[in-house]
Amino acid sequence: MKQLRSISAMRSWRGFLSNRLVLVPTMGALHHGHAALIRRARKIAGSNGSVCVSIFVNPTQFGPNEDFSAYPRPLAKDLALCRAEGVDAVFLPKARDIYRSDASVSLQESTLSNTLCGRSRPGHFSGVLTIVAKLFFITLPTHAVFGEKDWQQLAIIRRMVRDLDIPVEIAGCPTVRETDFLAASSRNAYLTPVNRAQAPRIFAALKNASALSSIPAVIRSAQKSLAAIPGARIDYLEAVHAATLAPLRNRKSPGRLAVAVFLGKARLIDNIPLPVLP
Ligand code: PAF
Repeated sequence: MKQLRSISAMRSWRGFLSNRLVLVPTMGALHHGHAALIRRARKIAGSNGSVCVSIFVNPTQFGPNEDFSAYPRPLAKDLALCRAEGVDAVFLPKARDIYRSDASVSLQESTLSNTLCGRSRPGHFSGVLTIVAKLFFITLPTHAVFGEKDWQQLAIIRRMVRDLDIPVEIAGCPTVRETDFLAASSRNAYLTPVNRAQAPRIFAALKNASALSSIPAVIRSAQKSLAAIPGARIDYLEAVHAATLAPLRNRKSPGRLAVAVFLGKARLIDNIPLPVLP
């Protein structure tokens, strides 16, 4: 497995590839959710193609009071996971190579990012789009894989690729869950044992609510269940259209029920489908 620590090393490796290159952009602290993204990437790449994982804790997507410096960076463990999953190359750029000190260009999405995490984390999606676009321009992948746990991120990246005619095919990968259905996330490491024991109730709240036929009933039910979790504070709870992320009014279009909850020091997000009901 190649370790590419500079943009020029990445570009020169890329120059030798003539088949599919599938990129899995990550911020490291890899877990079995990332392993599923890598396996999906391998499937798309096929036996002649290549899989590249980028590991970069992107400073521009963190707000001033968020966990950028505390974000876990277990590089040796991450490399071991990539090696075990048969990754061909890991791209490990340095922040000073990615962002010039006088950088003055960034990307902005103006519709899908006005809700959910975009509303609670101003500037977050501008940081995400800018780094993802830069990773695309540096690595020139044919395909890229993102997790559905970050549903809004996936929708906004798809929009960026559409609106800027970026020739990269985007694949979404279903959320990987622990055995108690908590969504796998690097931020689960912030949970105390007490909060960890409560955390699966977030998914249960969404799941039970999603069976109800009216959107107000769905929201009321999930809100009630979430409010009953000791120490939980709801950041947002919304039913949105699956593609446009506009508020979902009824169950005649495919939707997502999306939530962000503070549990102790951790801010956990999750979402589940709200399929069309007859
Ligand atoms: O989902 C993530 O881990 C990050 O937002 C991404 C896509 C790697 C951009 O930094």
